Amino acid sequence: MSRCSKEILKRVNHLGEGASSRDLYDDWSQSYDAHLLDDFGYISPQIAAQTLADRSRQRDVDIIDYGCGTGLVGEELGKQGFTNVDGVDISAGMLGQAREKGVYRNLISGDLTAQIALGDAIYDVAICVGAMGAGHVGARHVPQLLRPLKSGGLFIITINSMHFAAEGFERAFRQLEDTGLWQIHTLQQFNYMTQLDRPGWLVLAEKR
Ligand SMILES: C[S@@+](CC[C@H](N)C(=O)[O-])C[C@H]1O[C@@H](n2cnc3c(N)ncnc32)[C@H](O)[C@@H]1O
Repeated sequence: MSRCSKEILKRVNHLGEGASSRDLYDDWSQSYDAHLLDDFGYISPQIAAQTLADRSRQRDVDIIDYGCGTGLVGEELGKQGFTNVDGVDISAGMLGQAREKGVYRNLISGDLTAQIALGDAIYDVAICVGAMGAGHVGARHVPQLLRPLKSGGLFIITINSMHFAAEGFERAFRQLEDTGLWQIHTLQQFNYMTQLDRPGWLVLAEKR
């Protein structure tokens, strides 16, 4: 793995919210896919898309991809036959790369830690891959991320295990379940970079 790839992982691990997130990903946007796919063997987008494909017989569902980045999740969803996909991201650079892939219906610029006017109860599925924890989006933002989702809609999330533990995601997610906001169906660990030992959590929940 190149020195540059290692440096970028360090920067991601020590990210702050909002502006610094935007700056990092704007800088990284052009080489992100090469680093993630070729250097790290990143498979979270595949896992998320497969999780949805295993769960949903319908392919014409409306999906919102939170923190869509360069569009790796949209691409994997497309391979599984899901094409009604909108993406939101804070970084113009990442959104530009996603636009070039041509796999999103709409791409929206926005900060997921603030209120984004997407509308209430309009999506069947929400996905957030690699955009929670470590100064990205926090567990406290989940209630607002659930608003655009229909009741009974699925929320698929992947989070790096180190940040999942350090930031108390499991406890926070269980508390949301106790308040009746969602029901968690799957909470399991997987290695999300085949070239590294990089465990993450996969969460599949249903909005109540
Ligand atoms: C590790 S990348 C994951 C991108 C994509 N989901 C993937 O799996 O390749 C994290 C993404 O979250 C976005 N992001 C971080 N904080 C954000 C925020 N507050 N609002 C919206 N997007 C954010 C970044 O710009 C970046 O594109």
